[in-house]
Amino acid sequence: MLVIVTIDGVAASGKSSVAARVAQQLNLPFVSSGLLYRAVARLALKHDVPTQDQEALLRLLDSHALELRPYAQGNEVWCEGEDLTHELHTAEVDAAVSRVAQHSQLRAWVNEQLRALPEPFVVEGRDMGTAVFPQASVKFYLTASARVRAERRAGERTGDVDAVEAALRERDRHDAAQSRPAPDALLLDTSNLSLDEVVSCILKAVPA
Ligand code: C5P
Repeated sequence: MLVIVTIDGVAASGKSSVAARVAQQLNLPFVSSGLLYRAVARLALKHDVPTQDQEALLRLLDSHALELRPYAQGNEVWCEGEDLTHELHTAEVDAAVSRVAQHSQLRAWVNEQLRALPEPFVVEGRDMGTAVFPQASVKFYLTASARVRAERRAGERTGDVDAVEAALRERDRHDAAQSRPAPDALLLDTSNLSLDEVVSCILKAVPA
C-alpha cells in the first residue's frame, strides 16, 4: 500500500504542480514543504527579524503559531487566523527563504510539522526522500536546466529571464546542502517535458 510518495527537486523544477497533479490522480492529499520555510521567511521579513539569527527565528515561531493546511486543491499556511499563502511567492521571500532554511533547529521544527501530518500523502520539497521520509514508498527527484526553469518562472515574478535565472542559481547554491536525490529516487530531467509528460512518467513508476 502506498503511504508516502516524495517528489523532491531544485527550485522551479515544477515540483508543486507535478505533486498536485500526481496526488489528484492517486486520490491522495499533497503536501508542499517549502511553504513552511517560505512562511517563516515571510514572518521574519514582516517582524524585522534577521534571517541569519536562528534563535530569534525560533522565538518568532513560539510567538506566532504557523499551520500548514494540505488541502487537495492547494496548500495553505495560516498564522493566527490569517491566511499567509498569497504572500509566500514573492521575489522578496524567494531571496530570503534559503537563509532561513539553512538553520538546523528550524529544519527540525519544519520536519516535526510534516511528520505530524496524517498519512498517506504525496509530499514535495528538497529533502523529503532523504532526511524527512526516508521510509517513503516511492521517491522522485526533478531537475531542469536553469534557463528552462527561469523561463517557466519569469511569468510568475517581476524581472527579466536573466535576472530570474541569476536568482534561481543563487538559491540553488544556498540550497545545495539539502537538495539531493535519495539513492532510491527516480531522477527526471523535465527540461524537455511538459507537465502532462512528467506526471505520466511518475504515475507509470508508482506501483499499482
Ligand atoms: O520548494 P520551494 O521553492 O517553495 O522552497 C522554498 C525554499 O524552502 C527553498 O529554496 C529552500 O531554501 C527551502 N526548502 C528546503 N527544504 C525543503 C523545501 C524547501 O530547504 N524540503
